Amino acid sequence: MAYEVKDIKLAPQGLKNIGWAEAQMGALLEVKERFEKERPLSGYRIGMALHVTKETAVLVRTLVAGGAEVAITSCNPLSTQDDAAAALASEGVNVFAYKGESTEDYYRFLDQVIDFKPQITIDDGMDLVTRVHTKYPQLLSDMICGCEETTTGVIRLRAMEEEGALKYPIIAVNDCQTKHLMDNYYGTGQSSLDGVIRATNLLISGKIVVVAGYGNCGKGVALRAKGLGANVIVTEIDSFRALQAKMDGYRVMKMEQAAREGDIFITVSGNLHAISSEHIRLMKDGAVLANSGHFDHEIDVAGLKQMASDVQRIRPLFDQYIVEGKRIYLCGEGRLVNLACAEGHPSMVMSLSFCDQSLGVEWGIHNREALEPKVYKLPQEIDQTVARLQLEAMRVSIDELTAEQKEYLSSWQTGT
Ligand code: ADE
Repeated sequence: MAYEVKDIKLAPQGLKNIGWAEAQMGALLEVKERFEKERPLSGYRIGMALHVTKETAVLVRTLVAGGAEVAITSCNPLSTQDDAAAALASEGVNVFAYKGESTEDYYRFLDQVIDFKPQITIDDGMDLVTRVHTKYPQLLSDMICGCEETTTGVIRLRAMEEEGALKYPIIAVNDCQTKHLMDNYYGTGQSSLDGVIRATNLLISGKIVVVAGYGNCGKGVALRAKGLGANVIVTEIDSFRALQAKMDGYRVMKMEQAAREGDIFITVSGNLHAISSEHIRLMKDGAVLANSGHFDHEIDVAGLKQMASDVQRIRPLFDQYIVEGKRIYLCGEGRLVNLACAEGHPSMVMSLSFCDQSLGVEWGIHNREALEPKVYKLPQEIDQTVARLQLEAMRVSIDELTAEQKEYLSSWQTGT
């Protein structure tokens, strides 16, 4: 066992925080209990590049309960919760991560996970998959499968599959309804605002909040900003999504216009430079920028740095840039604001995402002979199982189809 964490003495606090997370993660604990009995992952080595948080620690415990050996690093230099990392190390997990790690350490830690010779990868943003394919192709033949957590990763994996570059099967956990509808919508919605508020302590009510992107994440962010009293503007490049935003009651316009009006900007577009340096030039004095998309290039931070005549860190992970005499503020260095400036999605949300991850690993192992180097969706029954486990954890009962209703649904003769 090996580890590299900020301070192993943080472990007792980490264990308490993981306990608190577990208390909200009933569905995942159900999977863990079954894994303890059945040991479906026995003897498999799993390499993970996920945000190292208290919730991820509960996933790691679940995989270990299933019999796996695990090595984990982060998938973002600013998202590690150092106490959770220390707690995992204290439990004997190979963990390499600290909050604020350098780019050099980020890649060194990925290499340490790869040194452990994983047969299964779990990624959030596919840095691990990319690294194995580009730097360690000799390991590809031993790979059984991988799981991908996020939309950004799945888009890139599909591009890899199309080019014939993907060399082992990947399960797009992101595409489960219990993942993208819950995590992207409720999780990103709440945690992005949480990140902006913890970074700034600004009052959201009465502010103009510009949300770049109206996918599930953008919908969640816009809804929560509206709920806090903001006047919300949405920017989009997709006509249908833009139409939906308009019908949901938001103002929709080009970023070029929104840039002049907004007080707070949150990018959730999954794309490069949703806020460009040209947009930043147009902004009002005091504008606050935050990104909640996976990568830190949704806001042109390099351009912002270049334009600035002065930069000062005025609060933890909150920087003031002077651009042409105006003050422009950036949360979390343009990295995922919910994890850099707050604690990421609430534990209950991650319980569902991580049920999908652990059941995805089990499904990949079970179907290993049949799987090809492609991107797979998990079967609908697994999604339904996860939703059911969560309903049970919340003590919610639902109706079942009667025999008569089942017959009705499978017939075609009945009409008006
Ligand atoms: N992604 C978003 N929030 C997260 C969390 N709390 N833990 C792990 N990954 C996350």
